[in-house]
Amino acid sequence: GADRVHGTYVDTGLMREGETEFVRANFSGLGAKSFEVEDARAQFLGALEGLTAPEAKRHAIGEEFVRVQQRILESEHYLDGHWVLGQGTIYPDTIESGGTAKADLIKTHHNRVAGIQKLIDEGKIVEPLASFYKDEVRAVGRQLGLPDALLDRHPFPGPGLAIRCLCSDESGVAEQLPEGWKLPVRSVGVQGDSRTYRAALAVPEFPASDEEAASLINRMENINRIIVTVWTADDPSKMQSVPSFLTEERLERLRHADAVVRKLTLESGFDDEVWQFPVVLIPFGTPGRPDSVVLRPIHSVDGMTASAVRMSDALLEQITHELRQISGIGGVFYDITNKPPGTIEWE
Ligand code: XMP
Repeated sequence: GADRVHGTYVDTGLMREGETEFVRANFSGLGAKSFEVEDARAQFLGALEGLTAPEAKRHAIGEEFVRVQQRILESEHYLDGHWVLGQGTIYPDTIESGGTAKADLIKTHHNRVAGIQKLIDEGKIVEPLASFYKDEVRAVGRQLGLPDALLDRHPFPGPGLAIRCLCSDESGVAEQLPEGWKLPVRSVGVQGDSRTYRAALAVPEFPASDEEAASLINRMENINRIIVTVWTADDPSKMQSVPSFLTEERLERLRHADAVVRKLTLESGFDDEVWQFPVVLIPFGTPGRPDSVVLRPIHSVDGMTASAVRMSDALLEQITHELRQISGIGGVFYDITNKPPGTIEWE
């Protein structure tokens, strides 16, 4: 009942623009009596300092969630230890974290790290949605009478913008191939039940058909993603990646780019046509504009497979025009990779 539920929203500093206010307004709208916002921004940024590997970032975030939760429970002396932690884990989180008999580890979801596993073993975690896919979760929510504004939102990953802000601990340049530029940036993909971690290929224009795009990726070695070059500040031969980390400056750059894209897609109605639309920052650019933005609109039913979606030329032009104004952004690319062989997120 409402008296016994304590809601805590952890502000990790990795959320989208306006998210904390949105959650605050909606949680009280649901009739919960106790709700707090825990400001843990400095703590998360500190834990992520210097990390570049996707799995290292994911583990750091998951473990930090456990620490924040322990701190809250201890400081409040909640119920003398008579508490259980509710998590919104859904079925794909378990599969992709390597938690079923057949599946390899694709990505460790934040709710499946060691600290959480220990609490699960102690019987301290309830996960009412753990056997459902995302479309089923929405159906359950509809039966419970939750507002459409919540149910129809695009999914957003627990580790937030951290896994959409790619990092690198080395410098690199793009390599010219007959098909396009092989970028010095790697992303996570999936092949059968296995994880891949390979470079992205930037082609000069949209392939004529989906079949052409699919056949291109199938014949490319060491590539798991194809992106179309929409705009670059300089010739790709003169662009590079330099050591880049999860700094406040880069997160703010991504947050700004994401907000611009969300505003324009909402206004144009494109937001309703797609299942999810990650906006990704990659460390590839010029000395004055060190990062590029990748647009990743996809269609899916349950997130387990996905297809890339095209937007109108007019909308793409408008988005690109706005992104070019953001300081530090040196390129705009459009991801046309299906899942498999890509994943929806880049990390
Ligand atoms: P991928 O990138 O694996 O993502 O194709 C499939 C779906 O899962 C979301 N996702 C996550 N959600 N915690 C979450 O709550 C996570 O750690 C996480 N990682 C990926 C992703 O946004 C997509 O909808």
